[in-house]
Amino acid sequence: MSVQAIFTQVSYLVAAALFILSLKWLSAVPTARRGVIAGEVGMVLAIIGTLLLPQIVSYKWIVVALLVGSAIGIPIAYLMPMTHVPQRTALSHSFGGLAVGLVGTAKYYLWHEHDPARLTTFIMAVLCFEVLLGFLTFTGSLMAFGKLQELIPTRPIVYRGQNFVNLSLLGIAVAIGVYLTINPAQIGLFPIFIALSLAFGVLLIMPIGGADMPTVIALLNSYAGISASAMGFVLENKLLIIAGALDGSSGFILSIIMCKAMNRSFTNVLFGAFGQVSPQALKAEERTVRSASPEEAADILLAASSVAIIPGYGMAVAQAQHKVRELFDLLTRRGIDVKFGIHPVAGRMPGHMNVLLAEADIPYDRLFEMEDINSELPHTDVALVIGANDVVNPAAKHDKGSPIFGMPIIEADRARTVMVIKRSMNPGFAGIENELYYMDKTLMLFGDAKAYLGELVKMIGQEK
Ligand code: TAP
Repeated sequence: MSVQAIFTQVSYLVAAALFILSLKWLSAVPTARRGVIAGEVGMVLAIIGTLLLPQIVSYKWIVVALLVGSAIGIPIAYLMPMTHVPQRTALSHSFGGLAVGLVGTAKYYLWHEHDPARLTTFIMAVLCFEVLLGFLTFTGSLMAFGKLQELIPTRPIVYRGQNFVNLSLLGIAVAIGVYLTINPAQIGLFPIFIALSLAFGVLLIMPIGGADMPTVIALLNSYAGISASAMGFVLENKLLIIAGALDGSSGFILSIIMCKAMNRSFTNVLFGAFGQVSPQALKAEERTVRSASPEEAADILLAASSVAIIPGYGMAVAQAQHKVRELFDLLTRRGIDVKFGIHPVAGRMPGHMNVLLAEADIPYDRLFEMEDINSELPHTDVALVIGANDVVNPAAKHDKGSPIFGMPIIEADRARTVMVIKRSMNPGFAGIENELYYMDKTLMLFGDAKAYLGELVKMIGQEK
């Protein structure tokens, strides 16, 4: 074995270990930074090891691809705001899916022309699997991006017999894939196979509402990983098999966690057309709520000895995390015990609240998971809900007719006093009313979260 080949094997081994450690470290806030670095070092090692492979005859096109990829990737990373991370992720999955599909296609045509003996049944089976998943991930992720970015209608597009049409199309694609596996020489079928894979990606996402896209993106992440793993078999690249399998399984686990936290099943996400706001739900009942001014809210906070802050999507929209930090500092300096209750699906992407609060340097040990904060809430003076709605809606616990029935919630309603910062009585993601707002112990603090918190901070700062 040449020195180069040994280096490649060792770098692959170290990269695989780093990818596994990266996933482990990413799962806890204190070690997350280490996890990112481990993943990055692993990827650099993987790329260097691959660039040393003897199969590479010229670096010209590799350099071109590197430059084009960087020219697209760097601005996306810098220019996309935090609230647009779900669509950014969808876009990168679509690039991944396209790359996988194109590599599979190139290998098929190349070997068909120059080395047909390599198109064994096994290679053809994984190649067809790779191309099908790669291309459907490409168009499916582009659709997800379009819906989240509101470039195409975000509402679910459904019609009678849709599942039959979709499954028939998939069935035909799979049948062609099986036929090609047995008869690799049937080159004329390959473009049809690609076209069906591309079309299936579009049809798969059409009936899913824009609001369900984050879960679907986790699923597409999983498809991209599995297709990359299949590509590893085609290219006989062990690291690609490992990395693809890690990506595929972690994406799948993430989508299961998201579904569980929303108390939804996979089929419900894929076919349920959730996220449509029914006009009935929007028609707020003629019930009265109590509202309070920033002065009153500041007095209540100052009189408390324990405060639980429950952030949600509205905090992200308002980018209020730095004001939250200022409030946290002021209250803790006065000896008030301030904790944060983090719901697993608060916001619009996994870890949304953790990322924002970390950006504002809120100490990790003040962040409590749902189960932990729930046991504290009955002894907490004030639950301050900032731009959260569904994740604190008590209907999830008892209203069997509610679309969020069964979803575990942060039980803000059990605190002694509840204060809710939001702009209006509009519903959140699930499109339903929140009975928490009508409780006697609840005060509505109407306004944009950042502006309202700014007022609160000013009031509390002025108090001696
Ligand atoms: P939501 O239920 O969506 O409620 C957010 C609230 O924020 C809205 O009621 C809105 O009311 C308020 N808001 C918006 N902009 C604001 C601003 N500038 N200032 C103050 N308030 C503002 O959010 P949530 O409680 O975080 O729940 C998340 C929902 O998303 C859940 O239903 C969950 O199932 C779903 N979901 C989450 C994920 C992940 S992974 N996180 C993925 C898919 C779906 P106003 O308009 O009146 O201000």
